[in-house]
Amino acid sequence: MYICLCKPVTDRDIRVAVDQGCRSVRDLRTELGCCSDCRRCARAAHEVLTDALAQKSTRLSLLVQA
Ligand code: FES
Repeated sequence: MYICLCKPVTDRDIRVAVDQGCRSVRDLRTELGCCSDCRRCARAAHEVLTDALAQKSTRLSLLVQA
């Protein structure tokens, strides 16, 4: 699903960016260009970012326990 229309960025793009180290909307802006023009996508980008960070944290916790 497209999150940013000004710079075509999808939720999948954001999840990949988080896996590669992005940790903030500022990071997403730098890496993907989203949230840099009209900024209407900022809330949705933040929601996907938060969810992706939580999933990454869970995966890392499971790896540590294994
Ligand atoms: S929709 Fe993302 S900057 Fe405009």
